[in-house]
Amino acid sequence: MQRAPLTTVYGDTPLLALAPMQDVTDLSFLRTLQRLHCLPDFVVTPYLRSATTSCVMSDSIIRCITENPTSCPIWVQLAGSEAEPLLRDVKTLNEFPVAGFNLNVGCPSPLVNRHGAGAALLKNPAHLQCICCAMRDAISLGRWSVKCRVGWESSGEFSQILSAICASSPDLFIVHARTRRQMYAGKPDDASVRLAVQQASCPVLANGDISSRTDAAHRLLSTRTHGVMIGRGIVRNPYLFRELRGGVAPSRDEMLLYYITLLEETGRELLHPSPAAHCNRMKKFLAFCYEDFSPQAEYTLRRCTSPFEMEKTLLLAANKIPSDREISGKKPTRNTP
Ligand SMILES: Cc1cc2nc3c(=O)[nH]c(=O)nc-3n(C[C@H](O)[C@H](O)[C@H](O)COP(=O)(O)O)c2cc1C
Repeated sequence: MQRAPLTTVYGDTPLLALAPMQDVTDLSFLRTLQRLHCLPDFVVTPYLRSATTSCVMSDSIIRCITENPTSCPIWVQLAGSEAEPLLRDVKTLNEFPVAGFNLNVGCPSPLVNRHGAGAALLKNPAHLQCICCAMRDAISLGRWSVKCRVGWESSGEFSQILSAICASSPDLFIVHARTRRQMYAGKPDDASVRLAVQQASCPVLANGDISSRTDAAHRLLSTRTHGVMIGRGIVRNPYLFRELRGGVAPSRDEMLLYYITLLEETGRELLHPSPAAHCNRMKKFLAFCYEDFSPQAEYTLRRCTSPFEMEKTLLLAANKIPSDREISGKKPTRNTP
């Protein structure tokens, strides 16, 4: 059923962004979204690591930028702990066709945090402010953004973090409304997002656990943001962007088309092609979709060792996928990357 597009509390259509997901929102996923005509307003890449010695230029992320198969602007995300390497990498990446830069202030990976990057930046707001202001100075207007969590231990830390980030006048601000301690589970804290909307002088996007039109409508209302960023919910149902713009929920045939398209596209992007490698790559995406399959289909999909077997299982399982409404209303339960 066609419905009215969602609106923000300001009466505008909300900004829709694809969340960065390391090893998931890659070129094969972007190509799949393009082929299904399910595009957001913009994409943020997974992070490139701005290490002291050099930028870890992941080939797969760089190709999302240089071979962007979508008509969407792409913002590149950097994770780092010091201004100097971050500025060095901004300079390098300015030569690439990126719409803007995004600082990762939320990655909970112990490896990244041990180096003082990602969510570790939340622990020292004064240092965070220095980094943000240096990046602001180096990045032209309209191209500087931050994606952050609301604290390391508790959302009580957020007002200081927020002031530190706002001091750099970002052009766009995305809040994954969880603490680092919460990782990917637990209720996102809408009050913190509202605070960000009040204090920031740029559009703010709410992120975390949006997997249906109802979720998005609720979050837009309760946070008063200008849009939403969605990760796991889109991997599970890429047609969600269409639904948020007033389009119909996906039919079973469309969901099947999604799985088969993704199977084709992941096959094109394998570094060391083999049937097992292809299945393993596909399982990275299916991990966010298993809830929509019967336990039997999930069991078989998890054990597939050839794409042929996987395609056959998907075709069979398609008949067992729940109805449209059930698909778009359920929450993703796979919480960890
Ligand atoms: C597998 C995986 C990889 C992720 N990689 C990144 C990343 O590179 N950069 C980032 O800012 N967030 C990353 N995230 C966090 C997501 O962007 C998002 O903030 C989080 O999943 C909550 O949103 P969601 O419920 O819509 O998925 C990742 C999450 C997952 C599950």
